[in-house]
Amino acid sequence: MAFALAPELVDQARGGILVVDFGAQYSQLIARRVRECRVFSAIVPHDVDPDEVVRIAPGGIILSGGPASVYEDGAPSLDPRLLNLGIPVLGICYGMQSMAQALGGVVTNSGTGEFGRTEIRVHSREGLFRDLPVDTCWMSHRDAVTSAPEGFTVTAETPGAPVAAMEDPVNRRFGVQFHPEVVHTPFGTDLLKGFLFDACDLTPTWTPANVIDDQVARIREQVGDQRAMCGLSGGVDSAVAALLVHRAIGDRLTCVFVDHGMLRMNEGEQVEEAFGKHFNVPLIHVRAQDAFLSGLKGVTDPEEKRKFIGGEFIRTFDQEAAKLGNEKFLVQGTLYSDVIESGGGTNAAVIKSHHNVGGLPDDMDMALVEPLRQLFKDEVRLVGEELGLPERMVWRQPFPGPGLAIRIIGEVTAERLEILRHADFVLQEEIRLAGLYRDLWQSFAVLPAIRSVGVQGDSRTYAYPIVIRAVTSDDAMTADWARLPHDLLEKISSRIINEVPGVNRVVLDITSKPPGTIEWE
Ligand code: XMP
Repeated sequence: MAFALAPELVDQARGGILVVDFGAQYSQLIARRVRECRVFSAIVPHDVDPDEVVRIAPGGIILSGGPASVYEDGAPSLDPRLLNLGIPVLGICYGMQSMAQALGGVVTNSGTGEFGRTEIRVHSREGLFRDLPVDTCWMSHRDAVTSAPEGFTVTAETPGAPVAAMEDPVNRRFGVQFHPEVVHTPFGTDLLKGFLFDACDLTPTWTPANVIDDQVARIREQVGDQRAMCGLSGGVDSAVAALLVHRAIGDRLTCVFVDHGMLRMNEGEQVEEAFGKHFNVPLIHVRAQDAFLSGLKGVTDPEEKRKFIGGEFIRTFDQEAAKLGNEKFLVQGTLYSDVIESGGGTNAAVIKSHHNVGGLPDDMDMALVEPLRQLFKDEVRLVGEELGLPERMVWRQPFPGPGLAIRIIGEVTAERLEILRHADFVLQEEIRLAGLYRDLWQSFAVLPAIRSVGVQGDSRTYAYPIVIRAVTSDDAMTADWARLPHDLLEKISSRIINEVPGVNRVVLDITSKPPGTIEWE
């Protein structure tokens, strides 16, 4: 079936940017950068029908980079009609090479290529390079354009790319071999702005305030005078989704917060405080700790833990929905990255258990309200800030649905939960005090249910160790262990041992992903 952009994206993309995807990693980053310039961007596959692009009527097109060589068998090809719609086009890396090839230029495989920080020499201070301090850029290519198509001026070169940038201002076609979307190209954002605001003449209207107004109007239209419910997890996505819906339909939204007892210190209270008291959202706080804990008795297998918690969560949530009775809509915090992963088009949302708190009911007879479907995670946080969500919730690090249960390696018991929660609290507090909380993708404590011998005062101890796990990452697909300062580690270690009864040893996990995963189970 031919790709068609989802209706809620079409409205925004009219007068915004379409990023034509030649390799998903690159296209998402470009789309995010464009949005940081306050211009909406949507991603379309490289084989999108040019008629669909005409229907969407974007203000500009960016052809993304990609891992392939234009000469490889099966390399994603560019439909040359995309270059002739009268819409300005910027080709980046592979996108520029495909454009050059389609317009009669020459792309050569020199056999060497350029990777990483590269010096660049600019020939023309007109066009995209106007007023930019350009000296280095980030390259990642093997092939290079060696002869620009007719009508183009070569505007920059690097040692390995005689055509590092080219422009055809008359037809508003531009190409850069380097990657303006990565931070290692220092002038990259300014160059993108030149394309957006000079070449395409777009207006920067994509702001959190406008997103809120637009979504509130859409939710009102979708929900009408019906009622909706929303499961809160304590995380930022469900919180922002709930607040948007609450702003749209007020008390016809009921939030359900299932506390399965595997949460971090004070998390339940924070949800209660923010939603129940501050925002006055009708909130049902289900205290289901005992049911979850007794169901986990004797369970040590990670998958069994996940399955039980997921199943019990759905059962509890279902029960609350049944009690409420006439909620026609279920609010979900599906993000744009989820939409892209599931095809990016008109397909209905795929609810992935991994993305939700233990997975929400999928056999519920409710229509979905998904106010975050247009947003990347960083945009959700900005909208959250604009809505007045407390800083702690807005910037909360990701937390797995099964919670602390998969950070206790072995059987989950009340005693171990208390120890882990306390140790995790100390760790978080020190990470925040050191000003590192936002720099880390995740930082948390793990409790392997083994004991080791220690000595405290004059006595022998035989107690649990606590593992410190802190990682940096962009998307959780890969991660690096964080090089926390030794002084900080020392402080965390001594505080945990002094303040948390039952712990006599603290160790540091120095495994990246791969080969490790971020969580231990
Ligand atoms: P791993 O451990 O696979 O985790 O490297 C990748 C990211 O996903 C989070 N995670 C989960 N999130 N439900 C969730 O909502 C889950 O069951 C789950 N398991 C892992 C994890 O914290 C990390 O950010």
